[in-house]
Amino acid sequence: MVDYSVHGQVAVLEVNNPPVNAFSHNVRVGLDRSIDKAIKDTNVKAIVICGKGRTFPAGADIREFDQPHKEPSLTLVFEKLEKTTKPVVAAIHGTCLGGGLECALFCHYRIAQKTARVGFPEVQIGILPGAAGTQRLPRLTGLHVAMDMITSGRHIFAPEALKYGIIDEMFTGDVINAGIKFAKSVMNKPLEDRCLMNKTVKDADQADQIADEFMSLVKRKYKGFEAPIDCVKAVKASATLPYREGLKMESRLMQKLLLSGQSAAQRYAFFSERAVSRWKMPGGNFQTAKPLPIKSTAVIGAGTMGTGIAVCLLNAGYQVYLLEQNQKFLENGVKTIRGIIEGSVRLGKTPMAVAQKAATLLKPTMKYEDLADVDLVIEAVYENLSLKREIFSKLDKLCKPTTLLCSNTSSLDIDRIGTATKRGDKVAGMHFFAPAYYMRLLENIYSTQTSPTTAATIMDVGRKIGKVSVLVKSCQGFLANRMRGPFAVEAYFLLEEGSTPQEVDSVMENLGMPMGPFKTGDLSGLDIGYKIQTELAKSKGVELSVDSKFLMGERISTLTRTMYDNGRLGRKTGKGWYRYEKPGGKLATPDEEVREIIKDHCKKAGIQRRNISTQEILERLMYSCINEGFKILEEGVAATPEDIDISWIYGFSWPKYLGGPMYYANRIGLDKIYQRICYYHENFPYSSHWIPSRLLLKLSENKVPMSQWCSGTDSKL
Ligand code: CAA
Repeated sequence: MVDYSVHGQVAVLEVNNPPVNAFSHNVRVGLDRSIDKAIKDTNVKAIVICGKGRTFPAGADIREFDQPHKEPSLTLVFEKLEKTTKPVVAAIHGTCLGGGLECALFCHYRIAQKTARVGFPEVQIGILPGAAGTQRLPRLTGLHVAMDMITSGRHIFAPEALKYGIIDEMFTGDVINAGIKFAKSVMNKPLEDRCLMNKTVKDADQADQIADEFMSLVKRKYKGFEAPIDCVKAVKASATLPYREGLKMESRLMQKLLLSGQSAAQRYAFFSERAVSRWKMPGGNFQTAKPLPIKSTAVIGAGTMGTGIAVCLLNAGYQVYLLEQNQKFLENGVKTIRGIIEGSVRLGKTPMAVAQKAATLLKPTMKYEDLADVDLVIEAVYENLSLKREIFSKLDKLCKPTTLLCSNTSSLDIDRIGTATKRGDKVAGMHFFAPAYYMRLLENIYSTQTSPTTAATIMDVGRKIGKVSVLVKSCQGFLANRMRGPFAVEAYFLLEEGSTPQEVDSVMENLGMPMGPFKTGDLSGLDIGYKIQTELAKSKGVELSVDSKFLMGERISTLTRTMYDNGRLGRKTGKGWYRYEKPGGKLATPDEEVREIIKDHCKKAGIQRRNISTQEILERLMYSCINEGFKILEEGVAATPEDIDISWIYGFSWPKYLGGPMYYANRIGLDKIYQRICYYHENFPYSSHWIPSRLLLKLSENKVPMSQWCSGTDSKL
């Protein structure tokens, strides 16, 4: 776990625990012994600590957090480093994070490869740097930088770390050689001044002011998260308490956070994000199928989605043919793409070199023939099956036989798109979420014909363009939109039965969603919901009227139509479920007129109104979706609950501290959820989304723990 070697008078302690050299219990024991050995060896005059393989230790072993703690603790081991009279040098490469950076902060010197990154990402798993990180970093950098790094969890590259004094020197080339060379250069220098515990925090006199500033920032930016608040308190303690007292404060806050449900949920989300890349489908999985090389791509349609997708591909270095049907649309599309990339450069999110390269990779065209040789086409025209089938049939005829043809549809059946071609195995869905260049979820969809190689390729492209990709089986609405369907429908029913838009919204916002369903509806525009409903009814041969209450035996609400008829189209008209300060305004104010419109609508439709409790609102919005989630699992649309939870986190901004709806359901108790679903099914028999899932019944009856029905198990039913 720790390789020990002596080079002349320098002992090298190389942490060897792939893949990221995390400080597991065995590593702590190994490091402890190696430090003792180096201290005792009279020939050794200096010590170098580094990581073997790809990185310096990237922190404590997060998998051990749920197990009983085993001595020695990280702090106990690290303290030996600072106390020794031999200089200790941390030679950093790769990612020096969390406990790894804390280890480095106990060393007398830190040097790093130019490409190395350092940071304290603990806040992202709901904790704080609990091995003295909150007390030591401010002693090096001052409070402001430490507050920023610790509350945001951001990684910084070596040049920035050098600027803040976190590292003493940058190097290029071999880590061990650089470490030894540096160690030799400091061998006989006094160490008193190199021990951080002896130092004071330089801007301690501004502690109150800086802490207040960050406290209000984190409360606004990370609403609902506990860890950022405790990070501010712990870092402030570095300036207001003596070192040992500050450590006690850090430890108290760390224990509190570790026991909180938020940290467990955030750790679940961390591992889930990685688990979804281990996809599987009938006939193949991430291990058996290899991705095809993709160099050139094409995007069909230069609307909002098409341009967003093109930006993702361009930023990742792919050549992109952007195809539109007329010059004006094409020019607008190119302008939009340039605008997005330039804006991102201004915000410092995209390096100038990437933007310049992107400009050369973009090939606007109106000719399908230009797409003949591309490796991947992503079609992003509006949702119309016949149009998509027409486009796919055309592409099939003119593209080379190996070209993959994908659709950015949010709900249309990929099988029916695939059958328009003679290469169904190379047809798949790539469903981006708006705005495509920003939202991190990519829902990749396979049909009954899609080959595992195609799936492997689109999953690989997803990773390369920086998305969290989830692979799902084709069905109406796929995973994300299908599961969210009942949420939208129940929200309207609640209004009809007696709730107000602000009551419903505040329940979801209090749960941690950034916006409730009605504020979201106002943002997208109420005409969209109305049109979708009308089209759906038409496709089933039904003409809806304002007082229609059923469609093919299913309860429906025509409230959006009533709103539409009253000219309330959302933010764009300054009036929707709320009133806004002006058309296009952002400030949502509850509106008495809306209450009257709803009451009038209900009167006409003969719907009895009543008082609805907050708990009922929450249950009807969330449990209906959770029930659908279990059906999605039951039918194999999603392979694991992690696929579902990650889709909600990155597609719908579900708060990570609740771990995703399936995790949330497990926390509440599947038996309780099941009982309530049965209750609503009895009361609302005309809503099929309340028909209880068989899988949910089975899991709750047998009290199966989540560890057995999440990834890695095939024994769900
Ligand atoms: N503990 C346990 N496992 C870890 C881990 C950790 N700290 N960090 C990464 N892993 C695992 C991942 O789960 C993954 O496992 P699988 O292959 O089984 O999925 C594997 O290592 C590789 O990780 P990535 O796929 O994420 O690899 P990457 O190259 O994309 O990223 C990384 C590497 C930047 C280090 C990223 O893994 C990361 O950010 N890790 C978390 C770092 C972290 O949070 N450190 C703080 C830990 S808490 C702490 O240190 C508390 C303290 O104060 C003492």
